[in-house]
Amino acid sequence: MSDELIAASNLISLLIEAQEDALATIKAGNKPESELRLQLLGAKSELTRLTRQIGRVPKEERQKIGPVVTEIKRSIEDALNAIATDAPPKNSDWVDVTTPGIRPPEGHLHIVSQAIMEVTRIFERIGFTRVRHPEVDWDWYPFESLNMPAHHPARDEWETFFLEYPGKPGKDPHKQKIVLTPHTSNGQVREMEKGKLPIRMINIAKCYRRQIDVSHTPMFHQFEGLYIDKDVSIGHLKGVFDHFVKQFFGPNRETRLRPFHFQFTEPSFEVDINCGICLGTGNLANGSPCKLCKAGWLELGGSGMVHPVVLRNGGIDPDIYSGFAFGWGIERTYMMKSGTKLDDIRLLYSNDVRFLEQF
Ligand code: PHE
Repeated sequence: MSDELIAASNLISLLIEAQEDALATIKAGNKPESELRLQLLGAKSELTRLTRQIGRVPKEERQKIGPVVTEIKRSIEDALNAIATDAPPKNSDWVDVTTPGIRPPEGHLHIVSQAIMEVTRIFERIGFTRVRHPEVDWDWYPFESLNMPAHHPARDEWETFFLEYPGKPGKDPHKQKIVLTPHTSNGQVREMEKGKLPIRMINIAKCYRRQIDVSHTPMFHQFEGLYIDKDVSIGHLKGVFDHFVKQFFGPNRETRLRPFHFQFTEPSFEVDINCGICLGTGNLANGSPCKLCKAGWLELGGSGMVHPVVLRNGGIDPDIYSGFAFGWGIERTYMMKSGTKLDDIRLLYSNDVRFLEQF
């Protein structure tokens, strides 16, 4: 430190300059108050450095400086205190009501509900109407009305759950036993009973079968289409299926019909869709066989032209009207679309969010 004397007025000018700088720094407001306090009033501050120079002011002038220093310190203290009270006091209940909230985790529709909505929309666009029919029904509707009398061996395929009838069944032969519907085909005669023609229904409902393993759950969903009008042909059936698979799976998908047997359709078909990976060729570009499909085609589900017995059971004259029906599984169809290879279909209904979040 130099021992040269300095004039009181010079030191006062320097002090005032330091004060102005300090107040400007506080006003800029880009540092917390505690840090500013150290920077502007602490041992290494410009103000402290200048007050150490007081000793170099001639003795007779020194008393002029004291009050100036006090005043400058007070003004800086005041400015610091002002910003200190603007900031939230620590450890209090202070709440900034303008801060954006924390978004709670949002749910979304279950993958099966999404598929149901999508299937409904595709059929609605070509004039079908979504309807609901009972999921717990008289066994007449899923069996007898569909040309499967009691003890008919075809019934075995449906692994049905029967329910205890509460009390004694009445005399009506159609209302004797209650089942959890094993397929949505119970909606066929129920829809005909409404007595309105033509019929263009899409019935989507829960189905129940006594089966549980990696590819079966005791509860699943089917969507059942029924179209009844004059002159309905297999051509219409094929056209509707091709429309559906192009909308649901993509423009270069198509269907083929394979002869099959159901009691309630004649003729009956299994509907196949060409494989999305090899597009029906059964081979990949490199010549190796496609791993996803059986020789180019995947099985979608059952269908056929409504059997005359079924039309009659629904009060419709099979000599005037004809129609087609199909019933496919929602879960299966959706899995085929997403290419999701679930090694255990029961995951769909195990309510594990880690799984469900992915769809
Ligand atoms: N209900 C049949 C099944 O569950 C499918 C089907 C529906 C077949 C309509 C023909 C007509 O497997």
